[in-house]
Amino acid sequence: MRAAAFDSGVGGLSVVKSLAAHKLFDEIIYYGDTARAPYGAKDQNTIKRYSLEALEFLSGFEPDALIVACNTASAYALDELRSQAGFPVVGVIESGVLALENGGVGRGDRVLVIGTQATIGSGCYQNLLKARGFENVTALAAPLLVPLVEEGIFDGAIVDETFKRYFGDLGDFDAVIMGCTHYPLMQPALGAWFKGAKLVHSGEAIVEYLKANNLVSDGANDTQIQFFASENATRLKEVASKWLDMPSLIKDKP
Ligand code: DGL
Repeated sequence: MRAAAFDSGVGGLSVVKSLAAHKLFDEIIYYGDTARAPYGAKDQNTIKRYSLEALEFLSGFEPDALIVACNTASAYALDELRSQAGFPVVGVIESGVLALENGGVGRGDRVLVIGTQATIGSGCYQNLLKARGFENVTALAAPLLVPLVEEGIFDGAIVDETFKRYFGDLGDFDAVIMGCTHYPLMQPALGAWFKGAKLVHSGEAIVEYLKANNLVSDGANDTQIQFFASENATRLKEVASKWLDMPSLIKDKP
């Protein structure tokens, strides 16, 4: 099976890493819209338009499924993508909430959702969590984490200072949903800050979802991955090789 995946930039690599580690697909075509990141500060019409353009580009590869490796696009563009794609389209928000449920987090436990301004502003996570009975939910936009990750800064003084600014007054949580696919790249730093909390990762969550819905290759071998970027494919390549630690073929979007 060939899966296509996209994000605004390098963040979706956290999802690709999980898909490849679990050998769910024979092939993955990844597109990072690096020229127009971040998506999280854009309005919903722009996010939909960019997502549909990513679909148009990726459709050329005739994928069997599209993985929306971006929470922001999943929050706003899933319906449009589904109505226009001739193949299944899977987002990361529903699977993130399912992972929380399946991960032994209680309905009364303290849950923090962090994401982009657009994702948190959409209320998608909050509504879904409420519908599933989670009563103690705090949602917070942490947009500065995205440019840090795009710069390859995953820990250290700037990250600590940013965490202090966003999370300093929030108290403790039992679970933290990393509701932006950029955030798992700084998972060690987030784990050190939110000690003892279960961290929910969009990539690991979607693996469970795809398996449960039978949207995976039977007995796939190592996944062949092709990367495309709307700009500066070299930086995407650097992060991919550091982060994925696997042979990859990087190309600029034609
Ligand atoms: N990685 C993305 C997400 O999951 C988007 C970050 C951004 O471009 O603002 O929301």
